[in-house]
Amino acid sequence: MSVTESTVRSPVLVVGGTGMLAGVVGALVEEGLTTVVVSRRPPGPAAFGRHGAAGGLLVPVSGDYTEPVRFTEVLRDAAARTGPFGQAVLWVHAEGRPHAYAAVADTLADDALVVEVLGSRAAAPTAPAPRPPEALSRTRHRGVVLGFTGHGPNTRWLDHGEISAGVLAALRAPKDRGLHVIGRVRPWEDRPWP
Ligand SMILES: NC(=O)c1ccc[n+]([C@@H]2O[C@H](COP(=O)([O-])OP(=O)(O)OC[C@H]3O[C@@H](n4cnc5c(N)ncnc54)[C@H](OP(=O)(O)O)[C@@H]3O)[C@@H](O)[C@H]2O)c1
Repeated sequence: MSVTESTVRSPVLVVGGTGMLAGVVGALVEEGLTTVVVSRRPPGPAAFGRHGAAGGLLVPVSGDYTEPVRFTEVLRDAAARTGPFGQAVLWVHAEGRPHAYAAVADTLADDALVVEVLGSRAAAPTAPAPRPPEALSRTRHRGVVLGFTGHGPNTRWLDHGEISAGVLAALRAPKDRGLHVIGRVRPWEDRPWP
């Protein structure tokens, strides 16, 4: 997909955006933001419905965040096409950190807003308080924890629509604040799966 100068406006990076975060990508593209989506298997245009043909605003890129050197190159190439990313949404499994975050940091604009999506275990009672990763310490970092939903002990994990809506809300929140939790993580014993 070609990226022309006129379509490159406030580029956004979404790492791991083809699964549960596909709704985030669709909303960003709908806003008119050039959105680079990184995954190992880049999706075809159909993956994001009508957004797939959004005039070059959606830029699927193939990259594996467990391959640090190649991943760094891939992100640099993408940023060379679009310009530095003013916002980033990162869904990176533990095995990809911290290298993937360092590679991302290399491509960000000054004062970039970065949403780091974390699994519910990040909010376990025994887990250390989540802190911005070192590589992202110069960004406007917002941690988002995926919780669960439901009343009392009758709970379920969040669906993809709820996850994408919560991540978008964190991205668009007017102020940086502590950790955002989508759904809830307390009482911890109520989570649907041990
Ligand atoms: N509540 C919770 O705490 C919690 C936590 C985790 C997951 N979940 C749920 O579990 C489901 C499964 O989670 P999931 O993360 O497997 O699915 P997912 O979000 O649906 O997919 C993972 C995304 O990351 C990409 N990805 C995976 N490995 C990658 C790599 N090495 N390099 C680059 N990109 C990579 C995938 O594309 P490629 O495969 O093409 O690379 C895809 O875009 C989610 O849909 C969510 O509902 C819940």
